[in-house]
Amino acid sequence: MSGNNVEVDKRRTFAIISHPDAGKTTITEKVLLFGQALQKAGTVKGKKSGQHAKSDWMEMEKDRGISITTSVMQFPYGGALINLLDTPGHEDFSEDTYRTLTAVDSCLMVIDSAKGVEDRTIKLMEVTRLRDTPIVTFMNKCDRDIRDPIELMDEVEDILKMACAPITWPIGSGKEFKGVYHILRDEVILYQSGMGHTIQEERIIKGLNNPELDKVLGSYASDIRDEMELVAGASHEFDQDAFLKGELTPVYFGTALGNFGVDHILDGIVEWAPKPLPRETDAREVLPNEEKFSGFIFKIQANMDPKHRDRVAFMRVCSGRYEQGMKMHHVRIGKDVNVSDALTFMAGDRNRAEAAYPGDIIGLHNHGTMRIGDTFTQGEKIRFTGVPNFAPEMFRRIRLKDPLKQKQLLKGLVQLSEEGAVQVFRPIDSNDLIVGAVGVLQFEVVVGRLKSEYNVEAIYEGISVSTARWVYCKDERKLEEFRRKCSPNLALDGGDNLTYIAPTMVNLNLSMERYPDIEFAKTREH
Ligand code: G4P
Repeated sequence: MSGNNVEVDKRRTFAIISHPDAGKTTITEKVLLFGQALQKAGTVKGKKSGQHAKSDWMEMEKDRGISITTSVMQFPYGGALINLLDTPGHEDFSEDTYRTLTAVDSCLMVIDSAKGVEDRTIKLMEVTRLRDTPIVTFMNKCDRDIRDPIELMDEVEDILKMACAPITWPIGSGKEFKGVYHILRDEVILYQSGMGHTIQEERIIKGLNNPELDKVLGSYASDIRDEMELVAGASHEFDQDAFLKGELTPVYFGTALGNFGVDHILDGIVEWAPKPLPRETDAREVLPNEEKFSGFIFKIQANMDPKHRDRVAFMRVCSGRYEQGMKMHHVRIGKDVNVSDALTFMAGDRNRAEAAYPGDIIGLHNHGTMRIGDTFTQGEKIRFTGVPNFAPEMFRRIRLKDPLKQKQLLKGLVQLSEEGAVQVFRPIDSNDLIVGAVGVLQFEVVVGRLKSEYNVEAIYEGISVSTARWVYCKDERKLEEFRRKCSPNLALDGGDNLTYIAPTMVNLNLSMERYPDIEFAKTREH
């Protein structure tokens, strides 16, 4: 065991999951404000232009020739060191969004309290289920007219199958939003509107039965007393074990725009969210306080600037300690590589990484040798598992403008799929090439990169494919029969794995019924 324990224990590595417009960007700004990373909140996203983040350090990255979005933010908070990983949303939603969730130890789920549980949140929660990631919930936008809080919690319980333990409870909402009652602290924390850009001094009234409450809140004081009796009967108490198993979520209410409640969540994360967890490999479990270094690549970000071909591979450190200039063993290719200039993401100080510990993310310059899922160690031949490909949800046929470049096209697509930028499928009965993605921007990125990196001009055509599943069967004979009977729907992916390409969900369901011995998997390990 190493002397890393103090550093490891401090780390909390999490990501935000939410439906577009629920408030992820706004919360990120406020979280950074609390982390003192930015002097004044409001620079993560250029609000008026709708442009994405251009905080000062990003400009620095750009000067260095790498344009990476706000991928990772590290900052100290309440004695802990927080790593917040960005999950691309809106139109930049992609497989990276899913894979980022495999590199964290907990998640913050943000819900628009006027809307409740929305589609994207449901999808992202499916991914967190793969590792039973603990979830903290924030019911945002309480400064608007919100749905009944009990109904919101019921929806989380019904749809996401997670028990809810309210930690704070809203008092009024919309124009009448007065603040929250902190159940565990038995304190009312009062809200002041118009203070969203500052860290507000907490105005607290101790104790629900404090007569001071009636003076300040008028009839809302007796309302909240009555309501809390109801809530106690209708909800769960916080239970650390159930939280760590992903079975129960602590629930907070507030408004990100008003910067009210965000610090309550951060306090909860520091207190309850897991420190860096052990990680599974194909051979054994790796513990964070092991002396030897290890980590895996969960995301590769290509530079969109054609002048620079450099890419950054994002590595989650799993054990040991990264030091500048160290040698790492690249397990897949069986070679040692020197890492001299990894990037860290400490807010306000974005120079080269001096050291990084389990839970931290470092960015490695990658000239094409690193792929999603690659493991790096100090010599041990193990491979981290749990960084899969996810079944694409959008498909297009890709076609060349110049038919003579078929070979380059295939090479480019296979390489881009190895890197995790997109997935490619070759139907076994035809010469088509089908590109699959989980986010629409991936299609554009691929055509752009095919042109700049492979000198291939390609265009897309629509195709009636609605979903894909990787197929497995232990029984060779049954698999062969399935291959024969379903060949019009079968394809090979970039790694030559057999895939079922379904024109409709109905078709997929029918095939699953018809071939009960075949496994139709939504994810595939690298
Ligand atoms: P996202 O990253 O999850 O997509 O959401 P984002 O933070 O961009 O927020 C989406 C919209 O919701 C923004 O307004 C934002 O100001 C607003 N918002 C976020 N949190 C709150 C809140 O607590 N209360 C209220 N009332 N609004 C909130 P917009 O008008 O779409 O954009 P903008 O012009 O304000 O940027």
